[in-house]
Amino acid sequence: MIVCKSKMELEKMREANLIVATVLERLRKMIEPGVTTSQLDSCAEELILKAGGKPAFKGYRGYPATLCASVNDQIVHGIPNQRRLQAGDVLGLDLGVYYKGFYGDSAWTFPVGEISDELHKLLKVTEESLYLGIEQVRIGNRVSDISASIQKHVESHGFSVVREFVGHGIGKALHEEPQVPNYGVPGRGPRLVEGMVLAIEPMVNTRGSEVKVLEDQWTVITADGGYSAHFEHSVAVTENGPWILSLLDH
Ligand code: MF3
Ligand code: CO
Repeated sequence: MIVCKSKMELEKMREANLIVATVLERLRKMIEPGVTTSQLDSCAEELILKAGGKPAFKGYRGYPATLCASVNDQIVHGIPNQRRLQAGDVLGLDLGVYYKGFYGDSAWTFPVGEISDELHKLLKVTEESLYLGIEQVRIGNRVSDISASIQKHVESHGFSVVREFVGHGIGKALHEEPQVPNYGVPGRGPRLVEGMVLAIEPMVNTRGSEVKVLEDQWTVITADGGYSAHFEHSVAVTENGPWILSLLDH
């Protein structure tokens, strides 16, 4: 069942997502060679609690941290640790917040210092694919219209999309129906109706799309050692088109 949200509920979801966006912006400014993802994680937790929210991922199926921090060949669900970031790394930060009964969820991949041209292109294409997916968030479209536009953009640039993990509905639960894959043909799946909220989250690899999970049971890496990027926004379907709830200064 897909749960639609009232205008008032969307306003609350906006508040939850605004905390996510504000914290990600603060973390972005801290990212430089020498910083550890544990430091970013502590800072994120402190800022969320100060804002009156709760970290959404901590304790979710036993996940041990506030942030997911995924470096280089790590795709998603990297657990923050004491390793120092190095110039040339790419760092994916995924953050969820629970506030006033609703969840917010957003992710961004950042460069650490100077990065290679290929990584620059990876970040650009992945972010663009997210926004192309978001453009499809219109009443009457179907879920796979989002999926198809993401896949088309990514593959036209020679990169691949991850299949094993998908976007999702979001609201009073972190993961609601429907699933939002980042691949597929257009015109399939549920129709989008006013009040749906979707977390759209392309995961894009420089080489093959295959994944492996590390022994920690969380960290997802590319099977072939290629680099990976992940961008995510929580987006509401409105009569005026997509409302990106997790964008600053909307
Ligand atoms: N943002 C991710 C998602 O949408 C992370 C959740 S997994 C967690 O599914 F365990 F870290 F919470
Ligand atoms: Co998500």
